[in-house]
Parts: sequence; C-alpha cells; structure tokens
Amino acid sequence: MPIANGFLHAEDFAAEFFFDLAVGHCERCHMVQLTERVDPARLFHSQYAYFSSLSTGMVRHFQAFAEDARARYLGAPDAFAVEIGSNDGIMLRHLAAAGVRHLGVEPSSNVAAVSRERGVNTVCRFFDEAAGSDIRREHGPADVILGANVVCHVPGLHALARGVALLLKDDGLFVFEDPYLGDIVAKTSYDQIYAEHVYYFSLHALEALLAPHGLAITGVLPQTTHGGSMRYEVSHAGRRVASEAVAALREREITQGLHRPETYHSLRGRVERSREELVALLRTLRADGRRVAGYGATAKSTTVTNWCGIGPELIEFITDTTPGKQGTFSPGMHIPVVPPERFAEPYPDCAVLFAWNHRDEILAKEEPFRRAGGRFIEYVPHVRIMD
Ligand code: SAH
Ligand code: TMP
Repeated sequence: MPIANGFLHAEDFAAEFFFDLAVGHCERCHMVQLTERVDPARLFHSQYAYFSSLSTGMVRHFQAFAEDARARYLGAPDAFAVEIGSNDGIMLRHLAAAGVRHLGVEPSSNVAAVSRERGVNTVCRFFDEAAGSDIRREHGPADVILGANVVCHVPGLHALARGVALLLKDDGLFVFEDPYLGDIVAKTSYDQIYAEHVYYFSLHALEALLAPHGLAITGVLPQTTHGGSMRYEVSHAGRRVASEAVAALREREITQGLHRPETYHSLRGRVERSREELVALLRTLRADGRRVAGYGATAKSTTVTNWCGIGPELIEFITDTTPGKQGTFSPGMHIPVVPPERFAEPYPDCAVLFAWNHRDEILAKEEPFRRAGGRFIEYVPHVRIMD
C-alpha cells in the first residue's frame, strides 16, 4: 500500500514508497492497530496534502468544538489551551479571535504556516513527552489540551500520554476525538485504514493505555464526523467523576464484541465482499460504456483503489478541491486528480463518493450533476448506486 496522502507527479512514480498495510487486534489490551508503521517524518512534512479547512462541514464542526471548549473550560482570564495537530488553524483560530491564550503544535510546516497567517500561535514540531515538558516550562500548565484526528496518528502513544500528563493542570482536561472503532466495524468503513491511522480506538483500549499514566476517561461524546468518531474527555485520575455515558459505552463495546477476535475475522469477510461488489459494479458500468469518476481524492480513496485494484481504466479521474492535489496522480493506482471545474466538462455518468463523510455537503453542491442524470456510487456501508 502506498502512503494515503502521497499524491504524486508522473516523474515520481518510479520512486514511490510502498509498505504492508495490515491491522492487528491485541487480545490482552484490545488495541486495534497497524502491524507495520511508517516513519511519521515520511507522512507529516512541508508538503502535507490535507488542509482541514477545505470542507465547510468541518469548518462548522471545529467552530462549535472551539466555542464549547471556551465556554466550558477556558473561562479563567489567563486560561491556556494547547491543540495537538492544529493543522491550518481550523479550531484554534476561534480561540485566537476570542483572545484566549493558546498554542498549536503542528509538525507539517506548510499547514502550520497557514495557521500562523490566520493569527494562531503555532510551534512546528511533533507533540511528545519533550514537547509537553517544553511547553509547560515556557507557557505554564494547560487548562485544556485539544486534539482532533491526531492522537490515532501518533505511533508513540505512551510518549504522547506522558507529555499530556506533564502539561495538563491538576484539574485540566484533555479533550480529543478520533474515528471510532465501533463505527468502523458497524459500517464496514475499512477505508479508515491507512498509514496515518496507526490506531483504531475503542474506549476499552484507550482506558488500558491511559491508566498507567494516571489519566482517566471521564466523558465520551459520539460525533458524526469522519463517518463516526468519538470525543473523549480525559483528566488526571481521581480529579473528576466519570459520566454515565462512559459506563454505557463500555457495556456497548462488549455487546458489539469489540474485544473478540471473531469480530475482526467477520469484518475481514465483509471487506472482501465489498471489494468484489465494487469492482464488479465498476466493470459492468465500463462495459456498458459509462464514464465513471471519483469524488474527493481522500486518504480513504487510496485504501479503496489500492485494495480493490481500481485504476484509470475503471475511474477516469478524481475531482478534489485541494489545490495541491490537483494535477497530481492518486497514490499507487495513479488516477489523475483534477479540479472541481473539470467534473462538469462534461459530467461523467457516475461518481464514486470517496468523500462519503461529507455526503450532505457534496449532494447539495452537486445537485446539477444529479439533475443531469449523474449518479453517485457509495460503498459504505454497502456498495450501491444512490437514488
Ligand atoms: N486536527 C485537524 C487535522 C487532522 S490531520 C483536523 O481534525 O482536521 C492530522 C494532523 O496532525 C496533521 O496536520 C499532522 O501534521 C498532525 N500530526 C501528526 N502527528 C503529530 C504529532 N505527533 N503531534 C502533533 N501533530 C501531529
Ligand atoms: P477527508 O474525508 O479526509 O476530510 O477529505 C476530504 C477530501 O475531499 C479533501 O481532499 C477535500 C475533498 N473535498 C472535495 O473535493 N469536495 C468537497 O465538496 C468536499 C467537502 C471535500
């Protein structure tokens, strides 16, 4: 499997990096994670392809997240907020605008530069134990540490937990969200599996991970983002009482079988069937002379196209709003990535909705495509042509 966000130019095909993408489940601590990891320096750098603020749904989501954090945890005059993986400042810009003392920690220098232009204080480094300790020395302890779609990216989770424990005030809160394993299993959303996502968290596995660091999960809040995520509130152990939702989720994970290996064997079977169905559908459409495009050159699309062996012979191009992805080729399968204007010149007959997590936003925007007879193809939770 290539790197999910490794969109590339033709001259770089020969040197493209590949690794073995496989997921394991630990029967002892119940963590689900990649068995081979890619060096983070290869993934997060000066040409990181993902800019958070390009989806209006996410812009709204992070405005609400920031406002909630400010109202609930950042009321004190000198309160200090740190965000891990602050990307282009999608969340922290709201705290910056409100005059809240803040710091973003973001190792990808291109997105960090955009956040600085938006008035967000940002240090360009990986968050780990040393970062937690340095930030505390320089700025004092944090009232709140935020993180979205980043903790599951960090191979050294124990170093991250030590850094959080060091940096967090005695009564502070670490609030983070990531794609939720329960949703991946329930929806067969196997396209969440790629190099950046080292871990697929459940409450059980996270509690086992954090406990040795004196950290406890005291709140859980399901989110609809990224196809189903979970927000966790973490505090120093014994400082807060866990909400009833935590106990309820613990129970639900047992009922769903997230601790049982058979759950993952059965998931594998569904993922293989999904591949057969998607490839069969695309081959039939092409045999009937239909033109098929991809919608959203997502990291997820790299997993789907490579796992299914879908190249330009089945999907002519992928349209994407990210300027840096346009004019490149998709990792591994080398499908051309084109700007949104190309989508309508002329419309293809069908479009595989790779950005299915932004479904409502895209369906509203692409009403003219559907009125012109165009059909979207979904593959999560089942392969189907949408009505
Ligand atoms: N929080 C944003 C960005 C998610 S993408 C959102 O939800 O949209 C993941 C981000 O985490 C990238 O910008 C990447 O550069 C950053 N990142 C990866 N490892 C990190 C680490 N160890 N510490 C801080 N940020 C990290
Ligand atoms: P994500 O699913 O990881 O958030 O990535 C979404 C990708 O899809 C990103 O590259 C931007 C792109 N995109 C579009 O091309 N059009 C859209 O309307 C939306 C919402 C996203």
